[in-house]
Amino acid sequence: MSAKVLSAAVVGLDASLVDVEADLSFGLPKTHVVGLPDMAVQEARERVRSGIRNSGFNFPPGVITVNLAPAHLRKEGPSYDLPIAVAIIAAYGEIGTRQPLKGKLFIGELSLDGTVRPVSGVLSIAALVKEQRIREFYVPERNAAEAALVHGIMVYPVRSLSQLVFHLRGGDPIQPYTSPPSKYTPAAECSQDMAFIRGQEQAKRALEIAAAGGHNVLMTGPPGSGKTLLARTMPSIFPPMQFDESLEVTKIYSVAGLLLDSASIIEQRPFRSPHHTTSSVALVGGGSFPKPGEVSLAHRGVLFLDEFAEFSRHVLESLRQPLEDGRITVSRAAGSVQFPARFTLIAARNPCPCGYYNDPQRACTCSPQNILKYQKKISGPLLDRIDIHIHVPRLPYEKIAASSAGETSERIRERVVRARDIQRDRLLQAHLVVNAEMSVRHIGEFCRLTSEAEALLKDAVNHFYLSGRTYHRIIKVARTIADISSEELISAAAVAEALQYRSQAG
Ligand SMILES: Nc1ncnc2c1ncn2[C@@H]1O[C@H](COP(=O)(O)OP(=O)(O)O)[C@@H](O)[C@H]1O
Ligand SMILES: [Mg+2]
Repeated sequence: MSAKVLSAAVVGLDASLVDVEADLSFGLPKTHVVGLPDMAVQEARERVRSGIRNSGFNFPPGVITVNLAPAHLRKEGPSYDLPIAVAIIAAYGEIGTRQPLKGKLFIGELSLDGTVRPVSGVLSIAALVKEQRIREFYVPERNAAEAALVHGIMVYPVRSLSQLVFHLRGGDPIQPYTSPPSKYTPAAECSQDMAFIRGQEQAKRALEIAAAGGHNVLMTGPPGSGKTLLARTMPSIFPPMQFDESLEVTKIYSVAGLLLDSASIIEQRPFRSPHHTTSSVALVGGGSFPKPGEVSLAHRGVLFLDEFAEFSRHVLESLRQPLEDGRITVSRAAGSVQFPARFTLIAARNPCPCGYYNDPQRACTCSPQNILKYQKKISGPLLDRIDIHIHVPRLPYEKIAASSAGETSERIRERVVRARDIQRDRLLQAHLVVNAEMSVRHIGEFCRLTSEAEALLKDAVNHFYLSGRTYHRIIKVARTIADISSEELISAAAVAEALQYRSQAG
């Protein structure tokens, strides 16, 4: 006696079909689960047995073999409980002899009492259900809104195993999920308006360039100079996300299990600010079922690392791959998974442990060794990947007390949006969105300089011994500066400004 039902596995952000087969035979009672299951799937045996019994069904005597196929696909997490239970009950002949399991896909974790608990990655699986034209998608009740984000599929919210079995037998039908999606807005971390920040014109300009071209920024300055405040205004000048960007970001949150009970696609760009005590697994992702980390949760948005020098060194070094490639590879026992991680890094730090190194008024109390040790915490290769370095000085009294308001975030955002439109048109055929993503080949193709600009850059390279990577990063920033002022050719002024953001490095 055997039965087969459909389920799915999520690897990275993509889902694939998994067949769950249950076969019953005579022998001493035992349940085997085969097909490369991890610990959680082994534990599923216990949950499934209790779930079936406590739902009032008979648990088959004898040998039960459950096979999850294809075998090469690694199955993780508790989402196979429900399909395994359904397959076992069906194999025992308790669902019916017609073909009630065809065209249906099941996911869900079982509690010992047979209620169905939510799982992660439902949005990716919903996309697969649609692509494969599977008629009915059975999900835990709390995941129904998320599954319904994909239009054109039938989503059945399942509360308990017994409810599902009665439905499959043709009694008490479960109603497909229909309620209209309610608005979901991720908790914005109190985005402030730039107009309320006094002075700091250079920092504001730098953040505008960063938002326009997707460049990374490091702000260095004494305590209280407004670095944290400045970073938190970033969301207010960012352009809205395109639909495909939103869908991709929502999938990441789904796989991370952060979409529960919400019923809409994420429309606001993420702004993540993990604390400096964070671990590298939390930052870049990992764990026994690899989950996306902060770098992926910040995909298409901002990763703000405040007190940058306080992060542990190996945690910071783990940023190098995502900063370079825009994605992160998380290794684990069987192979590795990739998650997208294309974020704008905004980092802030004090110049030394006491915070007043180089301050014109207040004396620094740190020893030279301590200053050096503090600054060395951030490695050269990491600094090299940050295009824009700025000093954020403490403001003199007159500036702090001045009452004149600065330019509003809305005005700045208009320029950012315009610069992004120019970039999108230019970079479309290369499948890129912003200047920061250009590779050396694209730079040759899309970044033409005036002859004065070229002469200036040549001087700078010779004079400051700039590395090849630095040279390319300067051109990319200059490209964005030119785009903000709608210049087709990159001018000497744009190159000079880009160089200035580089000379403050270190
Ligand atoms: N340029 C500024 N304009 C307005 N308020 C400021 C400015 N700089 C600092 N502040 C005030 O000082 C407080 C501390 O600023 P913060 O951003 O936390 O400094 P930092 O992160 O550089 O130590 C802010 O909450 C704000 O009230
Ligand atoms: Mg601060």
